[in-house]
Amino acid sequence: MKAWPRWARSPAAGSAPRRALSALRAEGGGPGGRSCLVRGGRASAAPTAACALCGAHREAPGCRSELERGCGGVARHLVAQSVAFMCCGTQYSHLEEKTQWEHPKSGRRKRVAGDLPYGWEQETDESGQVYFVDHINKRTTYLDPRLAFTVEDNPVKPTTRQKYDGNSTAMEILQGRDLSGKVVIITGANSGIGFETAKSFALHGAYVILACRNMSRGNDAVQRILMEWHKAKVEAMTLDLASLHSVQHFAEAFKSKNVPLHILICNAAIFGAPWCLTEDDLESTFQVNHLGHFYLVQLLEDVLRHSSPARVVVVSSESHRFTEIKDSSGKLDFSLLSPPKKEYWAMLAYNRSKLCNILFSNELNRRLSPHGVTSNAVHPGNMMYSSIHRNWWVYTLLFTLARPFTKSMQQGAATTVYCATAPELEGLGGMYFNNCCRCPPSREAQSAVAAAALWELSEGLLRRRAGRRGP
Ligand SMILES: NC(=O)c1ccc[n+]([C@@H]2O[C@H](COP(=O)([O-])OP(=O)(O)OC[C@H]3O[C@@H](n4cnc5c(N)ncnc54)[C@H](OP(=O)(O)O)[C@@H]3O)[C@@H](O)[C@H]2O)c1
Repeated sequence: MKAWPRWARSPAAGSAPRRALSALRAEGGGPGGRSCLVRGGRASAAPTAACALCGAHREAPGCRSELERGCGGVARHLVAQSVAFMCCGTQYSHLEEKTQWEHPKSGRRKRVAGDLPYGWEQETDESGQVYFVDHINKRTTYLDPRLAFTVEDNPVKPTTRQKYDGNSTAMEILQGRDLSGKVVIITGANSGIGFETAKSFALHGAYVILACRNMSRGNDAVQRILMEWHKAKVEAMTLDLASLHSVQHFAEAFKSKNVPLHILICNAAIFGAPWCLTEDDLESTFQVNHLGHFYLVQLLEDVLRHSSPARVVVVSSESHRFTEIKDSSGKLDFSLLSPPKKEYWAMLAYNRSKLCNILFSNELNRRLSPHGVTSNAVHPGNMMYSSIHRNWWVYTLLFTLARPFTKSMQQGAATTVYCATAPELEGLGGMYFNNCCRCPPSREAQSAVAAAALWELSEGLLRRRAGRRGP
């Protein structure tokens, strides 16, 4: 047996499953035994309940049984084709080695199928009992983790009920998902929501590229993820969204890897920054939060198309509702997007850039969804204590006061992860999500005319600055 760390050794002898097992033995359980223990007492007699040379009787979804493994380690193996556990309706077929669970009232049947979830391994302890090691969450159990992801045997109509909400975390949303083979780029992934998003993807097998403006902070983030899961496939690459040259350099470096791109998360942003012009002569909030991402997507468009189905998620904010970007005649006003110093107000610049995020996502989806690339915009949560408040001590104070009442970083990453991976969103885009749920953005953000105008304006800015022809 491999030399696992202490937490990965077989569950303690006094653990609940063991205690249940000992109790079963004491009661004369075992192959051909008569007892089946349930929480709070004995259930109806189940003559075949205790056969478990192969670990047959495990806790089934919805079942209250604490009995996990039947008799275990006994030479006599029931050869009946299937056994039914009357306390929960679990059926185990010895010939097919499959566990099936039937709900006693609805008649819905589920079965255990497929490989172990990503990060899990099966081990055998000294007494020959099988147990399972979850390397990501550092825990062991006798329960087969696949029981949590059983497959409907008689699928019913897909439900439209919301599965996740504001309390859900990114890790919960990805639970049981194996993202091996998926390539993900996340901008601004060295801190805050971006880091939690990157970590969640990496812990579920995806190859994650952290696009960061500061390589030492990027490499630090990579190390923190590797400390959680040494097999994680993570890498930091330099991307400064305040420089079109850097964006171009990043795109070329990524393309030289010759890998597909399945998920692109436009997450990086600055908030409350003092007015300053970038090397491309644009106001920095506008360039970092919108134009840099716009350019990045333009440069990676062909890779995204070739990797279809691919998804883009643009991290926006509810603050997009408190502004507009049109002048009095209803036309898109460039001087509102990249204002001169005397007309600059940091909060307004941030809100406008977040409105641009939604308009950009909608137009991107309109143009690329026919080619298998969809895009959605998200609001991650309100006033979460990341490092976004760093530009002014007043913001830091406000974020500190709000901290006990706001989402954790894991919860902040949930809506992004949901939009990037939810099977029910396959092929769907042009929407805005908050708390893992679709909701309407402001009227201005829904305007197809404004979205098309912003696209044209952004292309024009790039043509002039980067000398690049728009598509
Ligand atoms: N926190 C909230 O309450 C909240 C609410 C609504 C929306 N959001 C949105 O959520 C997203 C993530 O924000 P956060 O809260 O996680 O903030 P954060 O911790 O400050 O993360 C922002 C990230 O963007 C990076 N970044 C900044 N300028 C960049 C540039 N020029 N090039 C490349 N990367 C750059 C930062 O890198 P450095 O570390 O090197 O600066 C950092 O990694 C943002 O889009 C934000 O608008 C946040």
